[in-house]
Amino acid sequence: MSAARIDEVRNEVDELAQALPTAQEFMQAMVKVLHERMLKYNWVGFYLLEPGAQPPMLVLGAFEGAMTPHTRIPLHQGICGAAASSGQTVVVDDVNQDPRYLACSLETKSEIVVPVFAHGSVVGELDIDSHFAAAFTAEHQDLVQHCARLVGNKLETATQ
Ligand code: SME
Repeated sequence: MSAARIDEVRNEVDELAQALPTAQEFMQAMVKVLHERMLKYNWVGFYLLEPGAQPPMLVLGAFEGAMTPHTRIPLHQGICGAAASSGQTVVVDDVNQDPRYLACSLETKSEIVVPVFAHGSVVGELDIDSHFAAAFTAEHQDLVQHCARLVGNKLETATQ
């Protein structure tokens, strides 16, 4: 994956952020672009923290790729739970070596999960799975973190 492709996709996502008024529309369009344009991004989706839920729960939002059995993930489970509870990006180069991993597809080899912050708190996360081992190099981490930041900004500023 060339750096030029990453820059192009970053620009496309920036344009969507300008064009789409709501966070929901933006997330829907973003997962489509990332899934279609980034060849190793084989499943792309958002999980959002359910407001007021006890225990705290991540709920599947907009996604592209095969349906996952994990539509609701408690914060103490999975790579998704680890990213949301720590507020840190988690990159796993080989999911089969990570005991936290909750399997979505047998083909998945690597995964990145980046928390989305709004008003200083984690409100959800952007989760991407790849059929390729170690797909999420530093330049990909930058792109995915940029995408998550844009969604956080949109959640802070949009009316819904
Ligand atoms: N693999 C994730 C679960 C979500 S699916 O990848 C879509 C995890 O370990 O938390």
